[in-house]
Amino acid sequence: MSLAPALAEGLVARLGPRGALFGPEVPEAARSDWSRTGRHLPPALLRPASTEEVAAALALCHRHRQPVVVQGGMTGLAGGANPCGNEVALSLARLAGVEEIDADAGAMVVRAGTVLAVAQEEARAAGFLLPVDLGARGSAQVGGLVATNAGGLRVIRHGTMRDNLLGLEAVLADGRVLSHLSRTVKDNTGYDLRHLICGSEGTLAVITRAVIRLRPLPPPGDTALCALASFEAVLALLGEARRRATVAAYEVMWRDYLALNQELLGRRPFPDPPPFAVLIETEGPGLAELLGDAHERGILLDALVARSTAEARGFWELREGLAMDDALPGLVNLDVALAPGRMAAFAEACAAGVRGLHPGAHVSFYGHVGDGNLHVAAAIPGGGPDAVHAVERIAYDLVRDLGGSISAEHGIGLLKRDWLGHSRSPGEIAAMRALKAALDPLGLLNPGKVLPRAAG
Ligand code: LAC
Ligand code: ZN
Repeated sequence: MSLAPALAEGLVARLGPRGALFGPEVPEAARSDWSRTGRHLPPALLRPASTEEVAAALALCHRHRQPVVVQGGMTGLAGGANPCGNEVALSLARLAGVEEIDADAGAMVVRAGTVLAVAQEEARAAGFLLPVDLGARGSAQVGGLVATNAGGLRVIRHGTMRDNLLGLEAVLADGRVLSHLSRTVKDNTGYDLRHLICGSEGTLAVITRAVIRLRPLPPPGDTALCALASFEAVLALLGEARRRATVAAYEVMWRDYLALNQELLGRRPFPDPPPFAVLIETEGPGLAELLGDAHERGILLDALVARSTAEARGFWELREGLAMDDALPGLVNLDVALAPGRMAAFAEACAAGVRGLHPGAHVSFYGHVGDGNLHVAAAIPGGGPDAVHAVERIAYDLVRDLGGSISAEHGIGLLKRDWLGHSRSPGEIAAMRALKAALDPLGLLNPGKVLPRAAG
């Protein structure tokens, strides 16, 4: 598959030889996000270095009816940045860097291709916290975080990307630039295009710059790993912690998840893994007292308060579970949202369903329970796409029946588009299609993503 010669020539003329790679020059990384499900290498990779170049590239593609898939750090888990056929890929990697930190406004103006960890570090150096954080911070880019409304590890304290987005600049499919780099929290000027584009996963516009709200650096706090006997106790501890402390993270691991990761890392803070483990982090003092009281009242079995940042990091490594990817071939990570009171029932029924598929199946649960966000880790020995689909059906049917969401933070992308109807009504999906048609009438931006294949 190659591009129309006139288009290829136009792109090189406008973006320069470093800005447009073709055929064998296209790196393997453009094939797939972290879901490892991408199969197609795009015929070209565009690497614009400014908003004007993004606009020029999109205008050229529009003139030639050329579909485009937008790529950031490729850390997504829903296949949203994977080329599906003849799209050219447009990477924001060269449109990188923090442009300004406005200390009075508490805001950062940042280019889309900036890696999250870089933006976080610059905020810290200026005395601020960039409140969004997640495990993929070393690769994920700001534009992708906005495009997917990323969540992550601090949502309980600071909200999702959307909650921290003051302004946005993005380019429409035909090359028109929408620039609204607002620095104020209050801004009621008609339809909020910022919130429409945030979470649209590259289907409505290409994000080029964002204004992110910064927070004061938090006072030092504590991190602890707690052992609990029941999910009721998990929720009781969450309630106590919210009343008495500033909770910066509240992450839960079901027994099988903790047990496997303790084995894989060869580190066993709980040699006999409890039914539930909670990783709790606070801003400011008071965690040890809180946990002492909870222990006295029978909410806690045990708690280990980290004595060093290295020990806290060790607790986080157990929770992040990165070693599982290599240990369990074909591992699927699902991402759902449920009212916390319904999570235990979901996990029990989901585990029974998945084990019914294969007696040797791995299925375990973990996630950001304080945000109602649960992840399912499942692997069926020798299983292929049919096994993945069977696991999805079990989990998403349960989510629908329990009134939850089939995507809490990973987005819909390609892998969940045909399940969208489990969480959205036909009327809602029709309204989404109308918005897509209004902003991208030729359907050139990230085609085949988010919206289900069949009408309705
Ligand atoms: C996490 C990713 C999978 O929470 O969302 O680790
Ligand atoms: Zn997560």
